[in-house]
Amino acid sequence: MSERQPPHLVVLTGAGISAESGLKTFRDGDGLWENHRIEDVATPEAWARDPATVLRFYDERREQTRSARPNAAHRALAELETAGFRVSVVTQNIDDLHERAGSRHVLHLHGEILLARSSVDDDLRYPLPNGGIAIGDLCDKGSQLRPDVVWFGESVPRYAEACDLVAEADALLVVGTSLAVMPAALLLEQAPLEAPCWLVDPNARELTPAGVSPIAEPASRGVPELVAEWQARGGFAD
Ligand code: APR
Repeated sequence: MSERQPPHLVVLTGAGISAESGLKTFRDGDGLWENHRIEDVATPEAWARDPATVLRFYDERREQTRSARPNAAHRALAELETAGFRVSVVTQNIDDLHERAGSRHVLHLHGEILLARSSVDDDLRYPLPNGGIAIGDLCDKGSQLRPDVVWFGESVPRYAEACDLVAEADALLVVGTSLAVMPAALLLEQAPLEAPCWLVDPNARELTPAGVSPIAEPASRGVPELVAEWQARGGFAD
C-alpha cells in the first residue's frame, strides 16, 4: 500500500521576504534599483552596450547577498519542511537565503546571483563561491560569462515547471511580491480553485487578488505566525 503524501504547500516569494535581511526590494517608489535605472543594468540591451557596468552592478548585489542572513520568514518555511510538511518554494529572488535557511525544494524563476552562466549556452553554469565575474572570464565554449539572472525582456526558462508546481498545490502562500512582473504574476492563476491562498505583505490589502487572504504584516512576523498555526493544526485547513 502506498503511503499518503502530506499536503503540498507552494510558496511564491519575492523581494519583500528578503527585505528584512537587508536586501532592497525593486519597487520602492523611486523606480530605481539600488540607485540604478533597471534598463541600465538588467536588460540584454544594457549587457550589449556596457557589460562592465552590468557586471559591476551584479558583483555588488552578490557581495550584499553573501553578507545577508536569512530572517525569521525564511527560517519558518524551512522549519515547516523539517516538521514533515511538503513545501516547495518558487522564488523570484536571485539570493540564496531560502537555501541557507534550510529549504530543500527551491525553484529560482529569475536565476541565481551566485552562479555565472555562459552567454552562448544557458546550460553552462558555474558556481561563484568567492569574487565576481570580470570581463575576459570565459565559459568552456570560449564566450564571456554573465550573471545567471533573467533580465527584463528575456524568457523565463523555469516558468512551466513553476506552473506545474502551483497547479498541484494543496495550499499557497505568497510573500513579499508586488505581483507586477510577468509571467510570475500569472502563476496564481494556475492554482486549483479549492486550494486556500494567503498573501503576507505590508501592502497585502491593496495587492490581494480575488480569493486570496491578505495578511498585512512584514514577512518576519506574518510567516512565522502562519507556520505556527499550521503546525498546531497539523495542516492548512481552517
Ligand atoms: N515583508 C513582506 N513584504 C514586504 C516587506 C516585508 N518586510 N517589505 C516590502 N514588502 C513588499 C512590498 O510591499 C512589495 O509588494 O515586497 C514587495 C516587493 O515588490 P517588488 O519590489 O516589485 O519585488 P518583486 O515582486 O519580487 O519583483 C519581481 O521584478 O525587478 C524584477 O526580476 C526582479 O524578481 C524581481 C521581479
